[in-house]
Amino acid sequence: MAAAPFVPPPYPHDRLDAFRRLASVVPGGIVDCSIGNPVDPVPEPVLAALTAAAPHATGYPATIGSPEFRAGGAAWIGRRFGLDLDPEAVLASVGTKEFVASLPRMLHLRNPGRDTVLYPAISYPTYAMGAELAGLRAVPVPLDADWHLDLSRVTAADSDRALMLWTNEPGNPTAAVAPADAVAGAVAWARERRIILAADECYAEFSGGEPSTALASGSDGVLAVHSLSKRSNMAGFRAGFVAGDPDLVRYLGEVRKHAGMMMPAPIQAAAVAALADDAHVATQRRRYVERRELMLDGLTPLGLVHDGGPAPFYLWLRSEDQVDDGWEVAARLAEAGTLVAPGGLYGPAGADHVRLALTQPNERLELALTRLAAAGHA
Ligand SMILES: Cc1ncc(COP(=O)(O)O)c(C=O)c1O
Repeated sequence: MAAAPFVPPPYPHDRLDAFRRLASVVPGGIVDCSIGNPVDPVPEPVLAALTAAAPHATGYPATIGSPEFRAGGAAWIGRRFGLDLDPEAVLASVGTKEFVASLPRMLHLRNPGRDTVLYPAISYPTYAMGAELAGLRAVPVPLDADWHLDLSRVTAADSDRALMLWTNEPGNPTAAVAPADAVAGAVAWARERRIILAADECYAEFSGGEPSTALASGSDGVLAVHSLSKRSNMAGFRAGFVAGDPDLVRYLGEVRKHAGMMMPAPIQAAAVAALADDAHVATQRRRYVERRELMLDGLTPLGLVHDGGPAPFYLWLRSEDQVDDGWEVAARLAEAGTLVAPGGLYGPAGADHVRLALTQPNERLELALTRLAAAGHA
């Protein structure tokens, strides 16, 4: 029997169009907290580097990243995590979404004997989509009460077939942050079973404390995925990188060369400037922490409680009395002009929550709270 044709499911955020229309007509306009879309300024050194590099961008850029880009990634990992990394273990990606979506396919070509992608049961939808696009099995790993992976619940049948495991700490959408020993435990678990561990660490700078990295357990079989989108408000630039196992990085670099996955040279130059500067990150971190406090103080009395982790980029909210599911909560918020993402978009286990991205200026968040308070509930 021929395989069923692939029909792309509705894109998660397109499913919010009706709520978006509802919120847009509320006086004062929509406060869109549904997407982790940074709204704060692009750092000055980034703009300067972009402008300086643009006139020289007549030739094709290096797929793997320029020597400066790779050195910049390695140097940042050195400063942030205290690890000594060879720049050759760094590979450029065009933002990280494309890398997340294409990695299972590329790994499967290298190891056709394994057909399963393990990923957190409540998570960024692209993990499961990457498996689907590769024709592989996407198997969700249940989370524990603190929203971390419970690897003890993966069956031997699934782990024997597993090609790779995604981890994501600090986590989207739950804001959970695994302690370093849990991260090390996941690496050990995967290594024991010869499963490649891909650690999506794109929120590392906004962890509500000291971030940890899977690379602290060594790079063998590990890829750490980092993005400039959130760290440096560069989502529109499309800049990210992967660091880790030298053999895997070399292999992926070769495949990506054939596929033409090149980060434009001026963007690479801008990313080098971003990676060299920590001051703007500290400023941005303060903004998110402030917004988190503002929203927690305002939403809790209205009956919306955050029971996710400490990372200050998202709130993971549920109604206090737990009578409503995430779609109902999101509908109520949209009627009061605020758009959030129902937790079911991140997996069925998230259905009773909503995710609120703290990616709006304080005055817009204050407006959202004022309107919710006037409605008498959240
Ligand atoms: C967990 C996670 N990984 C990866 C990405 C992709 O980010 P980008 O493609 O901008 O690097 C996102 C974006 O929101 C995300 O939340």
